Amino acid sequence: MIKQAIIPLAGLGTRLLPLTSVFAKELLPINGKPGIEYILEECIDAGITEIIFIISKKKQMIKNYFYNDNFYKKIIKKKKDPRIIKEYNKIIKYKKMIKFVYQNNPRGTGDAVLKTKKYIKDKFFLMLLPDDLIINKNCSKSLVNIHNHYKTSVMASMNVNKKTVSRWGIYKLGKKVDKKNYFIEDVIEKPSIKKAPSNKAVIGRYILPKSIFSKLDKQKSGKGGEIHITDAIQSLIKNNYKFIAHNFSGKYLDCGSMNGYIKSSLEISKK
Ligand code: G1P
Repeated sequence: MIKQAIIPLAGLGTRLLPLTSVFAKELLPINGKPGIEYILEECIDAGITEIIFIISKKKQMIKNYFYNDNFYKKIIKKKKDPRIIKEYNKIIKYKKMIKFVYQNNPRGTGDAVLKTKKYIKDKFFLMLLPDDLIINKNCSKSLVNIHNHYKTSVMASMNVNKKTVSRWGIYKLGKKVDKKNYFIEDVIEKPSIKKAPSNKAVIGRYILPKSIFSKLDKQKSGKGGEIHITDAIQSLIKNNYKFIAHNFSGKYLDCGSMNGYIKSSLEISKK
């Protein structure tokens, strides 16, 4: 059973400047609701009971969002507005499930994952990258189901335009598992078009094994001087760990870029 999820939230969000110069991108509203709440809903609906947020001092505002009880209590006492009461109850529910750990130097997703090492209890856990919003179908739930069936690690995947491979983790397709799932033979972080083994990208939903921590302990920095989760996954694959790429059926929205962020509100408002 996958019960714990981790969410790296210490990134600077430079692709969303100027919106992110004083504001955490994960709290920016998408159709009237902070992006992070969509991610939390996905987790909870997928059966997750504990969520670890990796934040930084600069992103303390994310913790404040869930710890603003006195403010809510005062307002509710005065106004008794059912909408506010409902919102506050939702925030209390989330707060009870979230643990905060800190990554004060944004040294990459791999480094963020390493910060959660002592909190992970089971053999596998879920990771969600909050820039990647997937709507219409719960992608985490699909990964959990695949994991329960095959007992392996799983990552979300989609085909991307060949010209954009250097934006993603790209993998080489291995043996077919079933219609929507394939084993991964190799995975490379942000390869050049020349070095890319395919146009199949990893999207920000992963079921990772606890053994990833022993790789991350030794992981050297890679592309752009960052410690990448992709490099640690590649090391595990080379040690015969099985990773399945799942071609998810939901719609992908890239909320980490300005264009994608604007589009995501439009898409969600159509639902
Ligand atoms: C991260 C991962 C990359 C993956 C991408 C999906 O990149 O490192 O492998 O393809 O998320 O969005 P980032 O968006 O942090 O540059």
